[in-house]
Amino acid sequence: MIIHKTDQKTTILILDSGIGGLSVYKKIHQLLPNLNYIYAFDNAGFPYGDKPDSIVVQRIKSLIEKIIQQYSIDIVVIACNTASTICLPILREQFQFPIVGVVPAIKPAAEMSKNKHIGLLATKATVNRAYTLDLIKQFASDCHVELLGVSELAIMAENKLHGEPVNIPLLRQLMTPWLSLPTPPDTIVLGCTHYPFIKDELNLLFPDVNFVDSGNAVAKRVAFLLNNKLNNNSETSLNITHQLISTALDNKAETIILSLFEHELFEYQTITL
Ligand code: DGL
Repeated sequence: MIIHKTDQKTTILILDSGIGGLSVYKKIHQLLPNLNYIYAFDNAGFPYGDKPDSIVVQRIKSLIEKIIQQYSIDIVVIACNTASTICLPILREQFQFPIVGVVPAIKPAAEMSKNKHIGLLATKATVNRAYTLDLIKQFASDCHVELLGVSELAIMAENKLHGEPVNIPLLRQLMTPWLSLPTPPDTIVLGCTHYPFIKDELNLLFPDVNFVDSGNAVAKRVAFLLNNKLNNNSETSLNITHQLISTALDNKAETIILSLFEHELFEYQTITL
């Protein structure tokens, strides 16, 4: 077994079912540019939104297990609401490193909303999870919360990053339940990490709405958890590595990463689950 650890630099592993987690990667990378990054996406299992809970948990667990056979990891971010709302306790019990989840930004949305009508747009799995309903009970009890589970949006975002324009009439059709509400939400939670990539298109349909996602909060949480370590290691931009891992070959993945983040140093490998 080869464990890659070429220097003392802190290594972060960011996981998603697809390339949506790159919206979270982007926020973390802005705040912490001097880490080693591994972005892993389970494209052979995409989309998670329509999969049974047990399958999602198993795939995420296996992916982490396989990656830590090769790399020494300091922190993991589950950059997927669908996975985080079901597997955080299980992962935290099994693995020793800190595991940060990405869950719907209900609390900031409830604080931000003026008309106290907020919307949660996420995968069907996420809107139905006990975890999500608890978040609403805990942080948005003074709000009316509209839930819309639309798994197709993750596919649209994925296709957009692969170069296909978003089909606006189809998007409008998928958003129909919210287009004729007597009191529309003034704040919409993008409860899937893929959705920030189609925010401009959603904005066309909901021009007066604030969209909220968890990216910045997650980046701050990672910085907080790594704080001591970073001070001790005095991280520099030298020898930063960017790795990309998927569970099925994606010929466009490297181009997408390069075009989004203009990062040159990375390697790409596939891992079979
Ligand atoms: N990016 C994932 C999330 O945040 C979901 C996409 C999928 O359905 O796999 O929920």
